[in-house]
Amino acid sequence: MPAMADTLTLIRPDDWHLHVRDGAALQTVTAHSARQFARALIMPNLRPPITTVAQAQAYRARILAAVPEGLAFEPVMSLYLTDRLPPEEIARAAQTADVRALKLYPAGATTNSDAGVTDIRRIYPTLEAMQRHGLLLLVHGEVVDPAVDIFDREAVFIERVLTPLRRDFPELKIVLEHITTQEGAQYVRDAGPYTGATITAHHLLYNRNAIFAGGLRPHYYCLPVLKREMHRRSLVQAATSGHPRFFLGTDSAPHPAHLKEHALGCAGCYTALTALEMYAQAFEAAGALDRLEAFASFHGADFYGLARNTGTVTLRREVWTVPDALPYGEGATLKPLSGGEALVWRLDNRSPEAA
Ligand code: NCD
Ligand code: ZN
Repeated sequence: MPAMADTLTLIRPDDWHLHVRDGAALQTVTAHSARQFARALIMPNLRPPITTVAQAQAYRARILAAVPEGLAFEPVMSLYLTDRLPPEEIARAAQTADVRALKLYPAGATTNSDAGVTDIRRIYPTLEAMQRHGLLLLVHGEVVDPAVDIFDREAVFIERVLTPLRRDFPELKIVLEHITTQEGAQYVRDAGPYTGATITAHHLLYNRNAIFAGGLRPHYYCLPVLKREMHRRSLVQAATSGHPRFFLGTDSAPHPAHLKEHALGCAGCYTALTALEMYAQAFEAAGALDRLEAFASFHGADFYGLARNTGTVTLRREVWTVPDALPYGEGATLKPLSGGEALVWRLDNRSPEAA
């Protein structure tokens, strides 16, 4: 058996699904992601949502202003699809390199999704324009029908919404975001070259027992919610398979701790601080550390049609304990998902290094 390596150097990875919020929160979390990733696809679910190219460009400038000196971090922007986003805005988006994608939130599916799409048929002209201009459709793949069990919402979405959508727009690039089920992984594997999926670190590391271990643990609550162990295993299998249409997207979604530890706790896990360490742990547990680089650094860029990064980051084998709370805006705290736990990999302080 080969000796266990104690460093792991990767081409700089990208995060294809990230929430950085705005204002004071943005200042805290952008620095964490910029240390870990070269680029990130920025989710548009602010209040109000980012629905125009002009708003996306202004938001992008605020993110860039929050990147610490000496780090290079490129926000790749998305717009938020509503029932009324006009096809002309798609043409405008296609003219800039800053906006690459549109995010579909079924109305009511998750945090800040009330402006989302109420019926996919209403946005067919906009989807048509996206297909024509080569902009990606990023999908929060859960039905909102209250009659559907929360653990089945992804599988039912695939059947009711995604399958017909795929048929009607055969060349629209679709990313099924943060897949959480065996059905999600299988759908993407079978779907052909225009369909990809992001997979979060927390869905690779935890199953739904984590939410209820010894008491209710709100920091493990996100949407789509963690599923049972067989689904976690399917996701690990997909992420570590080397299949080019599965790629890294943290869905790191910060909320102030007091709004998660609440009678109506917010959905979202904060993982940006330790994302690569968490993915490395999941890949190592599967005996697939050698597959991490392609998943984290190549497959997403390839699917988006962007150049792969240059430069590297290095992880070292070192057991360390993640801080359990960080200051977050005025008087609030932010609790990283891995807070207080030991991780076995640690991103080198000197990372990232230029090529
Ligand atoms: C996200 C958020 O807080 O913005 N929450 C989450 O649980 N993932 C929204 C989302 O991506 O669903
Ligand atoms: Zn998200």
